Amino acid sequence: IAQTKEQKVEIGFEAVPASTADTIVVPKGYQADVLISWGDPMFKGAPSFSQDADSKAQLQQFGDNNDGMTFFQISDDRAVLSINNEYTNHEYLFKHQGKNLSADDVLKSQNAHGISIVELQKKNGKWEINVEGRLNRRITANTEMELTGAAAGDALLKTSADPAGKTVLGTFNNCANGETPWGTYLTCEENFNGVFGSAGNPALDSNYKRYGLSKEDWDYQWFKHDERFDLAKNPNEPHRHGWVVEIDPMNPNSTPKKRTALGRFKHENAALTVNNDGHVVVYMGDDERGEHIYRFVSKNKYNPSDLSANRDLLDEGTLYVAKFSAKEGELEGKGEWVELTFGKNGLTPENGFKNQAEVLIFARKAATQVGATTMDRPEWVAINPKNQQVFCTLTNNKYRGMKANQPVDAVNPREENPYGHIVRWSPSNGNHTANSFDWDLYLIAGNPTVHKGLMAGSDNINADNMFNSPDGIGFDNAGRLWIQTDGKYSNTGDFAGMGNNQMLCGDPNTGEVRRFLTGPIACEVTGLTFSPDQKTMFVGVQHPGEDLEPSHFPDGGNSVPRSSVIRITRTDGGIIGDA
Ligand code: FEO
Ligand code: CA
Ligand code: CA
Ligand code: CA
Repeated sequence: IAQTKEQKVEIGFEAVPASTADTIVVPKGYQADVLISWGDPMFKGAPSFSQDADSKAQLQQFGDNNDGMTFFQISDDRAVLSINNEYTNHEYLFKHQGKNLSADDVLKSQNAHGISIVELQKKNGKWEINVEGRLNRRITANTEMELTGAAAGDALLKTSADPAGKTVLGTFNNCANGETPWGTYLTCEENFNGVFGSAGNPALDSNYKRYGLSKEDWDYQWFKHDERFDLAKNPNEPHRHGWVVEIDPMNPNSTPKKRTALGRFKHENAALTVNNDGHVVVYMGDDERGEHIYRFVSKNKYNPSDLSANRDLLDEGTLYVAKFSAKEGELEGKGEWVELTFGKNGLTPENGFKNQAEVLIFARKAATQVGATTMDRPEWVAINPKNQQVFCTLTNNKYRGMKANQPVDAVNPREENPYGHIVRWSPSNGNHTANSFDWDLYLIAGNPTVHKGLMAGSDNINADNMFNSPDGIGFDNAGRLWIQTDGKYSNTGDFAGMGNNQMLCGDPNTGEVRRFLTGPIACEVTGLTFSPDQKTMFVGVQHPGEDLEPSHFPDGGNSVPRSSVIRITRTDGGIIGDA
């Protein structure tokens, strides 16, 4: 792994040790406190948190399992935070723990999903929630949205409730996110398959199976009270989910748009950049074992002088999928972007594609058809603002080397990859629309106190900074790479010494990695965004105490643990991460 010592990026805090405590730990000179937690009121007069809350109460409260988020500044003391609410934990969402849901329980679950858009107000130098904010909005599994782009209106997207195939209700399992320079929020639909099931006998061909759809849901039980989620009754409904959705957070009456041109898969995030020629480029991971990394290039160019002219830039363009190669014995090499356009690269009727809509709706199948590289669960992608390098977390993959389509290769070099790694690539000539790139591995996570060789991790991993399953990543303006983990927190065996899930800061050039934060028991640390002055960082703590692990974060005592957004500042008011 070639790191360049000459271009060191300042990391100015003292590392924190691994922790198994039921709290947030940040470095000396930093403070972390709760901004908002699941069930907190989001509107004036909304009820405060109670585990007994019904669907109506939940609709006026912050959603569950906050994940990706973006801070949008309006003025010196006013901003909006747009936050994904990915899913729910029945063991906490309901006092009865969700064994047999009523119709209102299902609606409560649907209302705990989606997006929470909250206004922030700066008071005494700190950003606080403003429950009276005019822009406060809950978007749920039942909010009306528009399907746009090449797949909109296709026969596969038509349902009895929507014969035009252009209007869909809701977004759910919104994992990570992205933002555009024209001021909109991108929310990415990930494990949408889990909410579908059936009381009947749906005919599910390989196109359903490839997306994990089956008669058995993931115990959401939505189909029992809402036919829309019964695959036998509404076989096309799942095709209307698995997209990237664009939302205008400044207009609470706007209709969210599902941008089908970006492809349908289990989206993690959407890392967007304006290329030097004006085209908008979006990098995206598909988080499943053996799935792929994608790139979208807009047909039209970004117009910096008329932001409204960019409103539908994500509707027209070309989708690509990544193919990695390397010389024998090397963990670096070349890559290419292969176009996913109907009629090209074997995406033809003979191979099961009728038109571009089908290429987009079954993007995974198209990627396989063109021979894309199967990856170790591509999670977040982040682009270094200081150069054109792109990083993608490959969180782990127990199937690597175990399944025929997932052989050990240079870019996924470990059998059963239990710890994950981070790949990075540089587009040819710094041009994000170029179809070739050079790649290497930024780090290979591992446990040097237990293993030798590749399982110990790369040289930049040691006993003091080790972790497993990198997931959320993002750069700050100074070019520091922030890394969040969603891994095993047993702290024993292969994971001994790693403690709870955590957040680290990496120098993208030298490869140095330093632990910045440790989370409470059984949580995942996911979601990060900064105020533009870089003096406040918002970090997500998701599902503390999942599966009834003993957490009472953040309220303590015997309280129900709650996913929360954490606000991090420095006591000296300085820039997060800086000296
Ligand atoms: Fe919702 Fe891939 O994490
Ligand atoms: Ca994730
Ligand atoms: Ca994950
Ligand atoms: Ca998660």
